[in-house]
Amino acid sequence: MKKNEVIETMLDHKSIRDYKEEVPSQEEIETIVRAAQQAPFVSQLYSVILTKNRDDHPFDAPLLFTICIDFHKFELIMEKRGWEPVSNDLSIFLFGVQDACYMAQNMVTAGESLSIGSCFLGAAPYKAGRLKEKYDLPEKVFPIVQLAMGYPDEETSTRPRYPMEYVLFEGEYPELTDEMIEDAMDKMDEGYLEQDYYRKLDAKIGLKGDEKDEYTYDDYSWTEHISRKWGQWHESIEEPLEELEKCGFDLLIEDKRE
Ligand SMILES: Cc1cc2nc3c(=O)[nH]c(=O)nc-3n(C[C@H](O)[C@H](O)[C@H](O)COP(=O)(O)O)c2cc1C
Repeated sequence: MKKNEVIETMLDHKSIRDYKEEVPSQEEIETIVRAAQQAPFVSQLYSVILTKNRDDHPFDAPLLFTICIDFHKFELIMEKRGWEPVSNDLSIFLFGVQDACYMAQNMVTAGESLSIGSCFLGAAPYKAGRLKEKYDLPEKVFPIVQLAMGYPDEETSTRPRYPMEYVLFEGEYPELTDEMIEDAMDKMDEGYLEQDYYRKLDAKIGLKGDEKDEYTYDDYSWTEHISRKWGQWHESIEEPLEELEKCGFDLLIEDKRE
């Protein structure tokens, strides 16, 4: 494998959940955001809200960034140009997710290049209405993800990823054999178990109903954890749609040009 400073930084990525007291400087913050802005974009459909009140932050992180899909800002530009938006909300949303997330991941990498760690928080879309009130977000601004950030106060190893053969498919999508699936599962599960990841975070997802949980932290690992998520959570589409609607995105809206 080729190696250089950028690749090494990327390969050394780990989410950080314990932070030192020291707060990254304004220069560091602006460097991270400026470098992240250089991500490719469809239309720079994002804004970033920064808060520094760590008592209110997950993991008591010194910084919390709320990364929002933002079509509001561009509507203001269109107005100045004498245009009215006709694009449907779903398209705006899908492009906005891409713009916001490439930028957000760039923030992670830029931070890590300055020895500043971070951890994404994926619940933002499910509390978008509350975040809208808290940060006074205008219509058409939707918090897609939050990012806790600060100097790491923990020593961790990198977490595993799927084997290359479970990710990179040349030419066409292959038939995934039992062996490929099991190899991928073993690599992930062994890697997380080796680090005692879920025990340390006390992050086991319980089973709904009266089903007895046969797993302990000795054998509960990534594939069981993620299966419990997608096998028990987010069944109803109403909740995310309602949060989107609170922020002015109606993904079921009729075509506005009719
Ligand atoms: C969209 C997204 C949401 C996430 N949400 C959370 C979260 O709510 N809490 C948390 O502790 N980690 C969260 N993570 C971090 C993942 O758990 C972490 O990236 C994954 O376990 C791989 O570990 P690594 O980042 O250390 O390589 C999130 C990551 C992403 C990309």
